[in-house]
Amino acid sequence: MGIEEKVMEKIKVPFGTIEITPKAKRLIREILKTKNVSQGKYVGQFEKRFAELVGVKEAVAVSSGADADTIALAVLYDCGAERGDEIIVPALSFVATANAVVHAGFNPVFVDIKRDTYNINPELIEDKITRKTRAIMPVHLMGKPAEMDAILDIAKWHNLYVIEDAAEAHGAKYKGRNAGSMGDMGAFSTYIAHIITTGEGGIITTNNEHFAEAARSLRAHGREGCLCKKCQNIPGEKCHKRFSEEGEDERFYFDRIGYSSKMNEFEAAVGVGALESYDKILSKRRKNLAYLLGNFRRFEPFLRTFYEESHETIGPHAFPILLGEKAPFSRDEYSRFLNDNCADTRDTFASIPTQYKSFINFKGNGYQNKKLGDFPNAEYVGDNGLHIGVHQGLHKKELDHFLSVTERFMKEKGL
Ligand SMILES: Cc1ncc(COP(=O)(O)O)c(C=O)c1O
Repeated sequence: MGIEEKVMEKIKVPFGTIEITPKAKRLIREILKTKNVSQGKYVGQFEKRFAELVGVKEAVAVSSGADADTIALAVLYDCGAERGDEIIVPALSFVATANAVVHAGFNPVFVDIKRDTYNINPELIEDKITRKTRAIMPVHLMGKPAEMDAILDIAKWHNLYVIEDAAEAHGAKYKGRNAGSMGDMGAFSTYIAHIITTGEGGIITTNNEHFAEAARSLRAHGREGCLCKKCQNIPGEKCHKRFSEEGEDERFYFDRIGYSSKMNEFEAAVGVGALESYDKILSKRRKNLAYLLGNFRRFEPFLRTFYEESHETIGPHAFPILLGEKAPFSRDEYSRFLNDNCADTRDTFASIPTQYKSFINFKGNGYQNKKLGDFPNAEYVGDNGLHIGVHQGLHKKELDHFLSVTERFMKEKGL
């Protein structure tokens, strides 16, 4: 082995990274000094800047992306939804999408995906709509925008709400519109694997002030009282609306079945810091994704990835890989080879209703269990999909190493 090869052997492609900027560190020191650690002014700042970034009027920070999904769904009770109503979701997603539907008190109705986009197939949605359907929840999986024009048309025709699961879609655009701004609400995760991160966290985006107010109530146990930004974000600050005419503190009245899901100030400080570096982080990740998209085609048809279409910008969340049908090796073989030689990999989830025991065995009120074979494309990805990171901590050197390790793997397979 030559010196260069020895050096290359040591190069690793870790899956994720976290940016804790000097500004975030300064804010954290200040929070420690003031002891205002629970939801306060930095949560407010993070919400304001996130809303500006997505181009919506309101953003409501919560403690995880799963809770952002759950709470956005629970807002629908303010619009006449009832427990046991149905929400249409793709069969392939991170499991939190479907868990959120159940935690919000609804039943998920799964729809298969398109294999080349990883996203819900709009042509299969209308067949699944019943009188109990309340919303469609598309997921922009791996940052690739779902087919929103078709989804929004179906929703309008059938009078359904649209909640975008944009957990993985920071920076994604569909026909010039930002992910998280097209439906009635968007739900992002700010967990460390994502582009804007608070460590743990999530955030709901919307142009509807009533939805934002309901989400603020739901994240705080279903609190009634004053939900204005002052009362919600600045501890100790008094708002005249907080007390009723009789002088009662309305914060201890509850008019929704809520959750305990606030973001704390430390998390928000990490997020406020990360937002300052957003453009830099995003452009580095875009560059990494574009480099891999351009250089991975040589492994087709045995290994494929997705395409960026002219109407969209993919949010550079990760680099997905799917084995072709004629690949003479398994996903796990390739994945083990990458993990041993260069890159952390993740499986690209699975068909939630038919490949996860949690939903195979789920006994919901009116939920219809499904059998293997019902979602052929989602199941195919479940057996044959994996992804690696494209984060800002990676450089051409690491990406080239990943490509050369893949080349070696293919050679070993005689391809
Ligand atoms: C599509 C999707 N939805 C929801 C979530 C849940 O986010 P969190 O892990 O912050 O709860 C994730 C997590 O990455 C996700 O990928």
